[in-house]
Amino acid sequence: MTELFEPLTVRGTTIPNRVWMSPMCTYSALSDGSGVGAPNDFHLAHYAARAAGGVGLAVVEATGVLPEGRISPYDLGLWDDAQIPAHRRLAAAIADAGAVPGIQLAHAGRKASMERPWLGGGPVPAAEGGWPVVGPSGIAFPGYPEPAAMTVADIATVVAAWADSAQRALEAGYEVVEIHAAHGYLLHSFLSPLSNTRTDNYGGSLENRARIVLEVLDAVRAVWPADKPIFLRISTTDWVAEDPEDGRAAWTVEDSIVLSRWATDHGADLIDASSGALVPASIPHREDYQTRNAALLKAASGTLVAAVGRITDPATASELLSNGSADAVFIGRALLRDASWANNAATVLGARGRFMRQYDYAV
Ligand SMILES: Cc1cc2nc3c(=O)[nH]c(=O)nc-3n(C[C@H](O)[C@H](O)[C@H](O)COP(=O)(O)O)c2cc1C
Repeated sequence: MTELFEPLTVRGTTIPNRVWMSPMCTYSALSDGSGVGAPNDFHLAHYAARAAGGVGLAVVEATGVLPEGRISPYDLGLWDDAQIPAHRRLAAAIADAGAVPGIQLAHAGRKASMERPWLGGGPVPAAEGGWPVVGPSGIAFPGYPEPAAMTVADIATVVAAWADSAQRALEAGYEVVEIHAAHGYLLHSFLSPLSNTRTDNYGGSLENRARIVLEVLDAVRAVWPADKPIFLRISTTDWVAEDPEDGRAAWTVEDSIVLSRWATDHGADLIDASSGALVPASIPHREDYQTRNAALLKAASGTLVAAVGRITDPATASELLSNGSADAVFIGRALLRDASWANNAATVLGARGRFMRQYDYAV
């Protein structure tokens, strides 16, 4: 019998099953006018379809804690109280369709101000609405503009923005907040020595590089209710051993294990184990390229862990739980292809999906 469709209670929140929608940017908000950063009818249809398709939790895409923290001008945001009502509609639509509504709060750092991927990606010129980017140090993502190195006051502003956005997420009705510390965005760029060469309290030792992440966790935990979960998405590896120029070490699975333990002490309830995207790198082709790091993290840190990456078939998803690799799975692209992936997995595995709004469907 699969554990995929067993509920998981984290703090006071019961998630009805362990097949979760991974946060995925849709770059579909308005880029100017009063709707900037606000979910619209597209977002409602997109997320509610996947919630109705049976996922236990839907985590809404990377949502900027500040306007300059958006990946693109078309990202969602929660930096302004005026954005709360539209998010309230979205969270309610997800909940009404049967899934727990979650949201990923993000700052894109040196990878902000990008064009939408289907228009080729790449930096948006200032004349077309692009903005200057920031990072721990003046080290650019290859081919992108050089970020301004953040001052300690800038760091405090970002930490406070994360807490303010979490407060707004709470008012909007989200029940899980995920802090985005992966994929080369701001927090990951502080963690990795490849992008962080600071010599103050926010650079150097692992403890110093992790400081901003733990400060964000503390600040969010201070406003986020004790009965609601906080997730932390990390990249478990940079997929390179070192900087090709000067041999500076990269971020590793071992670092991720230490960070996961610290994060738990600072109020994180679950580590969402992604990888990469800090620098261009060659990523292994094997199906378990990323989920094996989730298993390592779970075994070594003892925290709740979600696996993600190239999980496309129900049997594999089920096995990740039964062999102890993870406590839940996040599904990304397979859910873009098939909004009912979760219910179909239930059918394939002989479990109970949630095919109707109010009734389980016994297969
Ligand atoms: C279109 C698209 C947008 C994405 N946006 C985000 C995002 O907003 N936040 C995030 O943490 N990961 C994002 N990801 C990564 C996915 O959440 C997921 O981790 C990744 O696609 C691997 O899982 P998969 O193989 O099941 O797709 C995105 C991926 C895709 C394909």
